[in-house]
Amino acid sequence: MVWPLTPVRPLPLSPSMIQLFHVSKYYDRRVALSDVTLEIEKGEFVLLMGPSGAGKSTLLKLLIGAERPEEGQILIQGRSLSKLRSSEIPLLRRKVGVVLQDFRLLPKKTVFDNVSLPLLVQGASTAEIRRKVAEALRAVGLDHKKDHVPSGLSTGEQQRICIARAIVNGPIMLLADEPTGNLDPELTSEIIDLFKSINARGTTIIVATHDPNVLAQVSRRVITLDQGRVVSQEQVCS
Ligand SMILES: Nc1ncnc2c1ncn2[C@@H]1O[C@H](COP(=O)(O)OP(=O)(O)O)[C@@H](O)[C@H]1O
Ligand SMILES: [Mg+2]
Repeated sequence: MVWPLTPVRPLPLSPSMIQLFHVSKYYDRRVALSDVTLEIEKGEFVLLMGPSGAGKSTLLKLLIGAERPEEGQILIQGRSLSKLRSSEIPLLRRKVGVVLQDFRLLPKKTVFDNVSLPLLVQGASTAEIRRKVAEALRAVGLDHKKDHVPSGLSTGEQQRICIARAIVNGPIMLLADEPTGNLDPELTSEIIDLFKSINARGTTIIVATHDPNVLAQVSRRVITLDQGRVVSQEQVCS
């Protein structure tokens, strides 16, 4: 056997989507997250569960750079958030879609205008905006409502508009904080199906919820927090 003269370079390992190493976050002296270490791979659909005050929202805020941890390291695609220059934070935000419980839609603007907002902020061209908004609205099944205003739509439809707004940039991950908090079980299951179809196209999804209806429908990894600590990480099969 002849050994190659030059060493064979190993293939670069693609880094995890999200890694947290010993992350702690305090508000004054109150512990919001305590020594959290976890890893989320590209394409995962993770539920973040736990009672109110467990630290779920804090964790999501850390992931979009809206808050900084007092201790520990957070890497997104192998890059440390603490080493991002402030000019790079908007670039991170563009890669991450966010859906909240309270919709925060502009009531007097049309569905089209609401969904196009993230693209307008970036200075996208009219043609690009039209194309991407149409695509996002199709994904949530609301392209026929693009000229309506949110107040004329049902609660479930309003949440779907928020999801369209969150995916209009083609994010690498979608973070949702209690996205079904205002919805009944039937609408909850519609929204979860929508997340599943977005996930099936490759977007990593993290849903923070204390809603057992969501848990019943998602047979994925469940990370449970309590008082700022990860108390379990399990694969749930339903
Ligand atoms: N902006 C803040 N100022 C002070 N305390 C906060 C703030 N945000 C969260 N906390 C506290 O941090 C802990 C975790 O909160 P949070 O992440 O909102 O939990 P969850 O989303 O699981 O309900 C709670 O004790 C909460 O009171
Ligand atoms: Mg919360």
